[in-house]
Amino acid sequence: MSEASWTKGMAGVVADATAISSIDGERGELRYRGYLIAELVERASFLEVVGLVVDGELPGPTDVAALEGALADRALPAAAQDVLARLPRDTHPMTVLAVVLPLLDDAASKERPRLGARPAQRAALLALAARLPTVVAAWTRLRRGLAPLAPDPALPLHADFLRMTRGAAPDAREVAVLDATQALQMEHGFNASTFAVRTVASTLAPLSESLAAGVAALHGPLHGGADEAAYRMALEVGGPEAALAWVDAALARKHKIMGLGHREYRVVDPRALVLRPMALDLARALGPAHVRVLETLAAIDDHAAARFAAQGKRIRANVDFYKGAVFAALGLEPDCFTALFAMSRAFGWGAHALELWDDHALYRPRAAYRGAPPREVPRPTMV
Ligand code: ACO
Repeated sequence: MSEASWTKGMAGVVADATAISSIDGERGELRYRGYLIAELVERASFLEVVGLVVDGELPGPTDVAALEGALADRALPAAAQDVLARLPRDTHPMTVLAVVLPLLDDAASKERPRLGARPAQRAALLALAARLPTVVAAWTRLRRGLAPLAPDPALPLHADFLRMTRGAAPDAREVAVLDATQALQMEHGFNASTFAVRTVASTLAPLSESLAAGVAALHGPLHGGADEAAYRMALEVGGPEAALAWVDAALARKHKIMGLGHREYRVVDPRALVLRPMALDLARALGPAHVRVLETLAAIDDHAAARFAAQGKRIRANVDFYKGAVFAALGLEPDCFTALFAMSRAFGWGAHALELWDDHALYRPRAAYRGAPPREVPRPTMV
């Protein structure tokens, strides 16, 4: 590409190739390794989706058991526990993750990635991803003035995560919804955080530090932070009956409604399509207050879509729109939602790092220079 053809925000730029996922924005399709996301969430377990994303194929029962074993070591290294105990309690969970992530790997996996050493890097990835839920749960409890709970390797990853946040076993429906939500947001092409991870990984920095770069990128409200913003918006709007007037007022003052719109999807975000009914089912099981939040979101989504359509714009809810309501229903604080996104996306980020190291190149794009013409630094004036 010549310097003359640069694109603001890199929209439409093909930066590298990947075999992990594909997005067809015009058809509203997301596929992990060729499989439609809706089919995966309906027919595959969370661990099968992890195996697919990380290793390339849906794993058989033996491979699932091996994955389960690899994700069982969730205890935090002493340095990470120590930092968690000392951090100011008002530190945002995403800042906590970015700070603690580089301390989560063992000395062996802290080694700089060696090209051609996929099994070791894969093991490092699974070890890191297994510990992220422990960090998020520990921080959730520390902020509530409670002592963190040790992980239970006998439990599945998300059942253990919910138990570590609340001190009681979750029911099977809650675990199933969390598994599905996390599978939905595990991987998504060259979004900003994945691109950040690939860029850092391309320098052969340690995997844990590449993942920390992904956390930093995901923290932004235009990327991961929209889930929290959308949930807070639903609370502010108050009920479905207020949604129409609220949307009209927001659009009249050119306010960006968080959780709506997507750079890639021009018809619909297929993840939001799966999540909307699932979130409503969970809300119905948990009580009227949760149902009200979901109905408010649905009313905003439908009304805004109609308003956008009248302006010739195809803007619908993205995955973040309903996700916050699910996480809130599971008892998590709003500023923790994006950390749950990171817990799942870590598998996708890591898969990208492994893929890049299998066929390595340092990321180093060029910039179109638009600054001052060549000029000389003034010579100091003699006094
Ligand atoms: N609310 C109101 N108007 C919107 C919205 C929205 N959520 N999204 C887009 N528009 C409007 C813009 O105002 C703009 O209108 P204009 O042409 O009259 O100026 C037009 O649609 C195009 O908007 P862009 O921001 O240029 O579209 P782009 O494709 O670059 O942006 C983005 C996509 C950043 C996601 C945008 O839709 C947005 O800011 N949404 C809210 C934040 C959000 O939900 N982010 C999460 C994304 S998904 C994820 O990261 C997992």
